[in-house]
Amino acid sequence: MNPASLIPMAEPIPIHWAWFDVLLIATFAAHVLFMNAMLGSAAIGLVQAVRGRNTLIREVGMKLPPLLALTINMGVAPLLFLQVNYGNFDYVSSVLMGGWWLAVIFVLLYSYYGFYLYKFKYETMGAGLRLALFGSSVLGIVYVGFMFSNNMTLMLRPEGWAPYFDGYAGFLNWRDPALYPRFLHMMIGALAVGGLFVALLGRHKQSEDFVRTGMWWFTRATMVNLAVGLWFLMALPDKVMLAFMGHNLPATLTLVAGLASAGVLLYAGFRMEPMRVAAWAAITVFLMACVRHWARVLYLDPWFSMDTVPVTNQYGSFYLFLGFLVGGGALMAYMLKLYFKSGQGRA
Ligand code: HEM
Repeated sequence: MNPASLIPMAEPIPIHWAWFDVLLIATFAAHVLFMNAMLGSAAIGLVQAVRGRNTLIREVGMKLPPLLALTINMGVAPLLFLQVNYGNFDYVSSVLMGGWWLAVIFVLLYSYYGFYLYKFKYETMGAGLRLALFGSSVLGIVYVGFMFSNNMTLMLRPEGWAPYFDGYAGFLNWRDPALYPRFLHMMIGALAVGGLFVALLGRHKQSEDFVRTGMWWFTRATMVNLAVGLWFLMALPDKVMLAFMGHNLPATLTLVAGLASAGVLLYAGFRMEPMRVAAWAAITVFLMACVRHWARVLYLDPWFSMDTVPVTNQYGSFYLFLGFLVGGGALMAYMLKLYFKSGQGRA
């Protein structure tokens, strides 16, 4: 069977596709930063707790419900933009994953409630139950991340969709060698940014111990991730890998910029400068999100190009969107200003 016959036709889009791609990359970078701070700091707190030190997990546990809410909110935006430009691939992979994919909602609910209970019922639970609840909630979040990596890689490989016809009611992308380093790269990145979050928390709370612990995790995880990133590059299909090694100049330059930024990031990490690291982490994650997007375009190249999608040039709704974005952003900035101004009174 020709896998191309399985790809649905692309729907027309109202404005030029580049707008959606830019918004997809920018909102995805924000989603990943929140996800990393949430999952990474939770995992570090858990490791500390297993070693018998409970201060960090308690402190981090207070921040997890809002961090998880922000991760989910910031995930909705890229999901919508992804469906606009790449829905004919992403819908298919979601459907093929079946129950594995649908289970994300229930697992996420479990972890969300788990973090809430940990925060608000801390005193009423025994130490063993607390740890089991926290640990299983973290595991739930890892499951969700793994399902996203499966979906985002399965959508790129129409040649991997055929098992559906062997009678599988929902399957994962196990046969893709790039899945493993890609997922690991994401999870170790979470440990690094989680470490940074712990260090920033320490700076805010004037806890030298948190700053030291956080920066230790940040630097070690980032060094390991340089090696995992190399494994990821090697595991890509030859054509995609070679594109990043000079065959496609814009893609290669994006990767070089990302690596250079990661170098500066690591340097600032070893100098124990959490604020500078935070700025470079945001830049590096954005550049790596661009690299990841290049990978998607290169993977899909034999099957699909955005240039072939009809554009209806209906800019009205886009201007409305921009108006709400700017107006809503200004309102939120004003609300935050009032919130911080009221800090003194609340204290
Ligand atoms: C809270 C738990 C979550 C975790 C740990 C998580 C983790 C991840 C990871 C690791 C990826 C990258 C996968 C890869 O490319 O290999 C990803 C991508 C993505 N996530 Fe999340 N995610 C979470 C929740 C959500 C939710 C609730 C949504 C939507 C409502 C969402 C929307 C997205 C989208 C749209 C992408 C792909 C964007 C793109 O391909 O450019 N995520 N997520």
